Amino acid sequence: MRVLIAGASGQLARAIRETWQGHELLCPEESHFNLNDRESVRAAILGARPEVLLNAAAFTQVDRCETESDLAMRINGEAVAWMAEAANEAGTLLVQISTDYVFDGTAHRPYRESDPTNPQSLYGRSKLLGEQNATLAREHLIVRTAWLYDSWGKNFYLTMLNAAAQGRKLRVVDDQRGTPTTCRALARQLRVATQEGWRGLVHGTCGGETTWYGFAAEIFRQSGIQADLAPCTTAEYPTPARRPTYSVLDGTRRQQLGTDCMPDWREALGEVIQDRIIQSQRRNHV
Ligand SMILES: NC(=O)c1ccc[n+]([C@@H]2O[C@H](COP(=O)([O-])OP(=O)(O)OC[C@H]3O[C@@H](n4cnc5c(N)ncnc54)[C@H](OP(=O)(O)O)[C@@H]3O)[C@@H](O)[C@H]2O)c1
Repeated sequence: MRVLIAGASGQLARAIRETWQGHELLCPEESHFNLNDRESVRAAILGARPEVLLNAAAFTQVDRCETESDLAMRINGEAVAWMAEAANEAGTLLVQISTDYVFDGTAHRPYRESDPTNPQSLYGRSKLLGEQNATLAREHLIVRTAWLYDSWGKNFYLTMLNAAAQGRKLRVVDDQRGTPTTCRALARQLRVATQEGWRGLVHGTCGGETTWYGFAAEIFRQSGIQADLAPCTTAEYPTPARRPTYSVLDGTRRQQLGTDCMPDWREALGEVIQDRIIQSQRRNHV
């Protein structure tokens, strides 16, 4: 299968490159597939005519989106309509990655795909527009994920490890609940989903739930690191963009659509940490 990846330098895209072996993966640089430029988007898709267009590109700096709203709406929202239009011309399946931030976080049970959206941030609004525009593609799959990380890229997991290595005091919010999800687990699920012909809107996170503080504590526990870690509240750590207080995503539809290969979040974290340990042992042997 020929697969064109938008946002090829991002953390999810890297996981896709590592887990989708056997497929022809086209990973243009941003200068050749720029979501801020309609012509660039059309030329990349119509030039490659892939079977699958996987949009892993986004303006992901949630707080910056609040002040750079036009750019966020264009990259995360409007550009998806350009992709859908070109995907229709090329006979391509559009796989759009979306977010738990489309919800307002007031629920008391995991959000289902059919639950009403109500984004509280500009980032969430721009990604919701992206979801709506993805449905313009005749063949589309929209996968909402959350709290992505892996042993590469910019993410909470690496931030915690680096901060602990510097001996910093860590105060982490303990009143926002969600599900940490590894890029590699999501990449494997996306591969299965495209092979099994999933369509429509589906939630794609690991299983279980925790808070950011709970996630940090588990990172240090599984890594065998003694960190100076304590919980705090969102009110003590204000940010420009509002985050949902509760954004656990229900995985029932995924199980109904086909093979659900998302592990529990603790198990997925264990896989990433094991890799890190193996890599550091290799480095020490060199
Ligand atoms: N990270 C999370 O916790 C999370 C949670 C829920 C959903 N998601 C969604 O998951 C997807 C993948 O996220 P990620 O964590 O892999 O993000 P990421 O590491 O920030 O990767 C996003 C990629 O998009 C690229 N990009 C930005 N503006 C672009 C433009 N105008 N044209 C082309 N490419 C552009 C970025 O390039 P630069 O690095 O050069 O800017 C980067 O390579 C996104 O749709 C995101 O909204 C992420």
